[in-house]
Amino acid sequence: MADDTTDEVRPMAGLENAMVDMLDLAAPQERYRLMVDQAVMEPVPGVVMVASREAVEQTLRNHKVFSSEGFLDLGNTRPLIPMSIDPPRHKDYRKLLDPLFAPKRMDAIEDDVAMRVNHFIDKFIDRGECNFTEELAELFPSAVFLGLMGLPWEDLGTLMRFRDGILRPGDLTQDPDERLVAMRKNAEDIYDFFGSVLDEREVKPEEDILSHFLQAEIDGQKLTRHDILDICFLFLIAGLDTVSDTLTCFYAHLATHPEDRLRIVKDPAIIPSAVEELLRWETPVPMLLRMANADGEVCGQAVKAGSMVTISLGAANIDAAGIADPFEVRLDREINPHLAFGGGVHRCLGSHLARRELRVTLREWHRRIPEYSLKPGHEALEYPPGFRHVKDLMLVWPT
Ligand code: HEM
Repeated sequence: MADDTTDEVRPMAGLENAMVDMLDLAAPQERYRLMVDQAVMEPVPGVVMVASREAVEQTLRNHKVFSSEGFLDLGNTRPLIPMSIDPPRHKDYRKLLDPLFAPKRMDAIEDDVAMRVNHFIDKFIDRGECNFTEELAELFPSAVFLGLMGLPWEDLGTLMRFRDGILRPGDLTQDPDERLVAMRKNAEDIYDFFGSVLDEREVKPEEDILSHFLQAEIDGQKLTRHDILDICFLFLIAGLDTVSDTLTCFYAHLATHPEDRLRIVKDPAIIPSAVEELLRWETPVPMLLRMANADGEVCGQAVKAGSMVTISLGAANIDAAGIADPFEVRLDREINPHLAFGGGVHRCLGSHLARRELRVTLREWHRRIPEYSLKPGHEALEYPPGFRHVKDLMLVWPT
């Protein structure tokens, strides 16, 4: 609760365009620095932005005031599990889901992940060039997902279509009403698709996540069919584009910083720390949202009930209060407590899977394609709004 000692939250001095810029600029880090200095801002009445490391951590940890419930209508007819559920129910779901994405589980799928990334590299390596975004980054995380869900390669196109229907509804139609109808139809198709796979797994369980969901229990109660479908729906949103986008950011950096590329080629042992550092620097999910469901405060600033709170993970990740020399990209950083996977109870469920996919891609790619750069004529990189990512990242290498 806010008390008498809290200050009113400040408007953003000189940062009026920061929210927009932060989403679409190729290099947002300088702007993040200005935001960190202001820590807590109110760019428009009723919208509070928290940006310093301390403010972001305080907000993420205070889930009682800063709620995740009720966000995101992506065609789904029920809340996304567990992202749009607050504790205490949230804890039950995480208890059940966390073990499925634990590091040990990821060890078990590492060879499969490597096989899948090489499947895509095989297709273009002899050509000496590729559209990295389209030919690898967008496809590979969905292919890994097929493995986790026990689905055949032939379902890759279906998964991609579902994903695009949720995340790029503008591609379906530009009219807002028609778009909502199209999103609902896409969601129905997703529920139907996973529903029929679940029917099959009920008859013949396999060693995959879907079969596990059917067996799983919370306090002696099995998950309902709706629960499982809502979890699957969220996985399509949270687990696919995030990794795709991260890969495009990583390769844009490496293709334009040959010294970093060479470090990875010469010493693949630094890949795990390089992944953490690039996650920190790029922060592909730059911003999270919460709703203040009671009066609260962040870093001594009052936040009124009903405010929408935007949380800048990107800014927090370059705050010197959390990391030494934040503007130096050091691939061998030993201590790197970045917030690219968020924090508090909703911290990313799939962080170990994401890390595994990113590490394996860097390892396999640099083993097979050590020298690469931006394709001449395609040096201007486009970072569209939304999660931070590069459209049509064109790479070339000697054959
Ligand atoms: C580099 C890739 C990834 C990044 C940067 C990322 C980032 C994040 C962030 C910042 C959150 C916190 C959301 C919030 O607090 O509102 C989150 C939550 C989540 N992520 Fe990830 N994520 C990635 C990959 C994945 C993957 C591969 C999965 C696959 C299972 C996944 C599943 C989830 C789920 C289910 C949640 C919700 C957790 C909860 O509400 O308890 N993520 N992710």
